[in-house]
Amino acid sequence: MKIEFITPAQNKTSVLIIPIFEGQKLSSDFDSKAIKAYQFEGKAGQMVSFMMDGFLTYLFGAGKKDESNLDLSLQELGGKIAGFIKTLPQKTVSVCACGLGHDKTKTATPAAHLAYGLGLGSYCFDEYKSEKTDEHTIEVVSKTASDDEKAFQPLFAVMDGIFEARDLISEPANMLSPADFVEAVKEMKLSNVKINVLDKKQMEKLNMNLLLNVAAGAAKEPYLLVMEYMNGKKNDQPTVLVGKGVCYDSGGMNLKPASGLTHMKYDMSGGAAVVGTILALSKIGVKQNVVGIVPLVENMLSSTAQHVDDVWQSMSGQTVEVGNTDAEGRLILADALWYGQENYKPSEIIDIATLTGVMRYVFADEYAGLFTNDDRLRTLVSSAGAKTQDKVWELPLSPAYEKMLKSNIADMTNIGGNGAAGSAMAATFLKKFIKKDTPWAHIDMASVCWNDADKPLAPKGATGFGVALLTQVVLDKE
Ligand code: BES
Ligand code: ZN
Ligand code: ZN
Repeated sequence: MKIEFITPAQNKTSVLIIPIFEGQKLSSDFDSKAIKAYQFEGKAGQMVSFMMDGFLTYLFGAGKKDESNLDLSLQELGGKIAGFIKTLPQKTVSVCACGLGHDKTKTATPAAHLAYGLGLGSYCFDEYKSEKTDEHTIEVVSKTASDDEKAFQPLFAVMDGIFEARDLISEPANMLSPADFVEAVKEMKLSNVKINVLDKKQMEKLNMNLLLNVAAGAAKEPYLLVMEYMNGKKNDQPTVLVGKGVCYDSGGMNLKPASGLTHMKYDMSGGAAVVGTILALSKIGVKQNVVGIVPLVENMLSSTAQHVDDVWQSMSGQTVEVGNTDAEGRLILADALWYGQENYKPSEIIDIATLTGVMRYVFADEYAGLFTNDDRLRTLVSSAGAKTQDKVWELPLSPAYEKMLKSNIADMTNIGGNGAAGSAMAATFLKKFIKKDTPWAHIDMASVCWNDADKPLAPKGATGFGVALLTQVVLDKE
């Protein structure tokens, strides 16, 4: 898919789609009698088509204008139009952004938001299809085309980050091992980003035994991927982002049932979100210091796999009894969070992970869970979520849960409470690896990493959740 911005005079394509909101006045170019005859009111899902000045014209019902979050509703409108464009045989299609209005106080124009939605809704992963999907070129038509194109650039960077994340998540585990993940990120040639990769030996020296032993059953070696984007003031402490990178989660010795294995290639969605965010930030050229850390492993079952009941000492020095090998995300994150705090003294640390399957029961695919120990981060992350398509909702981090993580023989167990408050339990475990004064937020994205059906901004499959959210968090921090 290609997106271009053109003026009405430059429009030469034969198909023109015009989104119209409910109650929106139609321009005098239209034969209002004819439109009346169609009874077109701009309701969502309504559409009429006719020939006008040689264009096959579609009026596309945009529904009620949601003034409370106009940017997001324009993006979703773009996504819906993208869904319709997929069904058209014509390969170049124009979408008119002329009647959408423009709030001069905003940096991005309505046409730019529409274009972002058109792009995100057009995504398709056809790497392994013999017959490739024919891509469309979408011309966004507006009188202010060059301003719109300029306004689109930061959104384009986020879109690109989301696409990279979706690509990584969509790759099956036989194609994307921890080593392949590292290679894929190196190949992105991110500008202004320094990449450090720790291998098994280096992690052994650092005593990262929780991470290493999740990987012990896998033939594929673990890595810790570190991306430093230091584009802020020299002495500013960075924001550290940590993303779970389990390239395949079989459950390990606590082997998942057959149905639970499906899609477990996506257990690195948090890591992909961190990569996509670093990519977006570097493309925008945000003046901030941000470090992305992705612990990369496969959680497999073999004679070298860790056992249930094993005890390991973490990088932090605390010991952990492995009550369940399928609760592996918190184990690798614990060492990665500690590494991030030790090495970067972050002003805040945010982790994002497909941590607990129960999130789907809590939120369906509407929200990710947010846990935090800090009021400023609570506001920052929640409001960034509300501005983007990546919604979060806070869940409690109560000290009462801590006693459920007690172990008889170690400092803690990685599973407690017999499954009760499973997501909070995972968050409470992570909190044990957060230093007293570090502002920390944990985002459990197990509910939102994958769509079983098309949504306007994320077609069926990997959503790329987290890229828009975390980019917005860093932008709002400025
Ligand atoms: N990767 C899974 C969580 C998950 C499950 C994400 C389904 C998306 C869909 C995680 O490692 C896991 O297995 N968690 C367990 C935790 C339990 C053992 C405490 C779970 O959710 O069942
Ligand atoms: Zn698991
Ligand atoms: Zn997992």
